[in-house]
Amino acid sequence: MFKSAVVGLGVIGPHHCKCYRSTREIQLGAVVDTNAERAEKYAKEFNVPWFTSLDEVLKREDIDFIDICVPSGLHGDLAVAAAKAGKHVISEKPMDVTPQRCGDIIRAFKKSKTVFGGIFQHRFADDSRRTKAAVDAGRLGRLTFVGCSTPWWRAQEYYDYGDWRGTRKLDGGGCLMNQGVHAIDLLLWICGPVKSIFARTALLAHQKIEVEDVAVATVEFENGALGVISGSTASFPGSAVRHVVTGTAGMINLSDDQATIWQLKDELGAQPQGGGAAATAAATVGAAADPAAVSTDIFVRNIDDIARAAREGRQPLVSAEEHRKAVECISAIYKSAQTGRPVRLPLRRFEPKA
Ligand SMILES: NC(=O)c1ccc[n+]([C@@H]2O[C@H](COP(=O)([O-])OP(=O)(O)OC[C@H]3O[C@@H](n4cnc5c(N)ncnc54)[C@H](O)[C@@H]3O)[C@@H](O)[C@H]2O)c1
Repeated sequence: MFKSAVVGLGVIGPHHCKCYRSTREIQLGAVVDTNAERAEKYAKEFNVPWFTSLDEVLKREDIDFIDICVPSGLHGDLAVAAAKAGKHVISEKPMDVTPQRCGDIIRAFKKSKTVFGGIFQHRFADDSRRTKAAVDAGRLGRLTFVGCSTPWWRAQEYYDYGDWRGTRKLDGGGCLMNQGVHAIDLLLWICGPVKSIFARTALLAHQKIEVEDVAVATVEFENGALGVISGSTASFPGSAVRHVVTGTAGMINLSDDQATIWQLKDELGAQPQGGGAAATAAATVGAAADPAAVSTDIFVRNIDDIARAAREGRQPLVSAEEHRKAVECISAIYKSAQTGRPVRLPLRRFEPKA
């Protein structure tokens, strides 16, 4: 059984610690936080040793995985250090905050031959996987119109807590790089690579932050489909993340990972599958307004897949190359909003203006 050290014990780190109670391939072996009080508290709760620096854990032979849960703009530094020390990595989203930092991580893991696996837990929800399988099997015909929307609310106190949220350097962006990144990853995974993007962003409801709290982008996919990506942390009280995937032979709508519309020509007449009204009702609660309201099951699947990949010597579903795609897409949105012009992908470098 692999052992993992969770690094960063703020909102999401303790959630990862809890997930290791249910994982089959890997267990918690240590906790790390620069804040000693926090590290000691969770060490007691989960009955593992605690440390205040990554370096101490990198030296330990009984730790196979470093599970990175620190502010986003530090992900690359920790991942590269772990790769150099011969450790596998599980990394929270986003992979880092610029495409070039993602490139650094990819290169480090090519050299180390250890496994890098990203967290995009929504790919592991049942209806997300069924949607991806239906599109891949051509059951929606030619994809025509697609999109995702993350209309969430974050109070000013959310950005005021901690000194990294809402900063360019460590958050990398606002409602898209931090919150909408999940929905964007799912859209790209299901609908394929993006060819070009034209976008607007704005800061409308918050003070003292360097990033956007509203963003809207039109997207052209390589397969010709057109789409809309939108996100907000300025939409009180916040509601469900929605995906619309439509084509010449079918339509699927997801609301917080559950299918609310499932109409495929090849099964016309059958009842729509998925969560239906219950999903819609459930969709108005959760992470829409509360960053700590995240479920465990899909995280457990995501973490177990990464550990299994290390054991089997293969890439996990959310490989380093896969983790980078959403960061690249969001960077293209920021570049388009900054320049007022469409941006073609791939985009391997982008320095946002201060
Ligand atoms: N997958 C999800 O649904 C999800 C949900 C929330 C957050 N996240 C991601 O998780 C990451 C952390 O977010 P959070 O909300 O938990 O942040 P947070 O500010 O609540 O916690 C970060 C913790 O990291 C510690 N830390 C900072 N630098 C460190 C270092 N060099 N070594 C060790 N510890 C260090 C801090 O002391 C703090 O305890 C972010 O990248 C965020 O985008 C993902």
